[in-house]
Amino acid sequence: MKALLLAGGKGSRLLPFTRTMPKQLLPVANRPVLAHAVEHLRSVGARDVGVVVGEWGRQIRDSLGDGSRFGVRLTYLRQDSPDGLAHCVGLARSFLGDDDFVVYLGDNLFKEGLEAPARTFRERGPQVQLTVQPRPDPRDFGVAVLTPGNRVLRVVEKPDHPPSDLAVLGAYFFRPSIHEAISSIRPSPRGELELTDAVQWLVDRGDEVTAVRYDGYWRDVGRVEDLLESGRHYLEGLTPDLSGALDAESSVEGAVEIGSGAKVMRSRIIGPVMVGEGTVIEDSVVGPGVTVGRDCHVRAASIARSTVLDGVTVDGGDGFSGCLVGPEGLLACQEST
Ligand code: DAU
Repeated sequence: MKALLLAGGKGSRLLPFTRTMPKQLLPVANRPVLAHAVEHLRSVGARDVGVVVGEWGRQIRDSLGDGSRFGVRLTYLRQDSPDGLAHCVGLARSFLGDDDFVVYLGDNLFKEGLEAPARTFRERGPQVQLTVQPRPDPRDFGVAVLTPGNRVLRVVEKPDHPPSDLAVLGAYFFRPSIHEAISSIRPSPRGELELTDAVQWLVDRGDEVTAVRYDGYWRDVGRVEDLLESGRHYLEGLTPDLSGALDAESSVEGAVEIGSGAKVMRSRIIGPVMVGEGTVIEDSVVGPGVTVGRDCHVRAASIARSTVLDGVTVDGGDGFSGCLVGPEGLLACQEST
């Protein structure tokens, strides 16, 4: 099975952070969201992965490389403008050939991976298999209506009045029949060629289109609060590892990972906390629920429930909680302290 990882698009809901990097390279547990994705694709047996990129193509290529460190081969496919998810599949037509494939949205996190849905797809053998999960308010997503046997009756994109609570998640399993559907649909009112419409085209033709419920932790990290919440969720399973240096005036409580080359001086670290390689923390209180990136400098600060991006300096201040902290003091906070 091949894979197509979609990493183009605009990321406008994560401004201002996405002025300097694409949303798919923002970190969860100190690894870019896209790196989590490539690993999951590898574990479902996809060795040949096409990565659709837009204007951030160079940064994404610099981050993921040729895929060899993940054990996959990455082929970068340029999309000149973000014309929709089905447009991405269309432009990858010759890369995909006549193989079965999985489309993985590069801003989605499937913490427990995709092995269970991939197995069901192989065993049941439908033309399309969606992954779905109940959400309290699914209006920001594709929404599916299923039979009791998990056949898809209907799928609609971001409906104002959702016909069910089942959001369509960003992992779609396809057979080559999807290509005919994509060449038959027209752009939606928002001007995009929607994968949802292509899937509905196959449903209307009577093809077998199924869905599996994803029981694991899933988030679309296209918004700051979802990125922060995902970061905290990943910290819950943290294995303590004190590779970095801790001076005699510092203390550590709970699950804490301090990366190699990092230094903690005169500080209190309250787990769960992850500190990236080469970071220096001094005279500070950090945690709980904090991820500090690589090569950061945290000085005389108090930080809780936050994510600090790589290379950032945090100097003093009144302390903060529930924030995403970027270069040049960029801050987006979801909670007041
Ligand atoms: O997260 C799940 C949702 O993802 C589904 O429920 C929706 O049915 C599906 O349409 C999609 O909605 P979003 O509005 O969240 O999609 P977004 O524009 O964020 O794009 C998803 C990924 O695909 C993201 O990594 C950017 C990339 N992309 C997007 C477009 C529109 C491209 O590479 N090219 C594009 O043209």
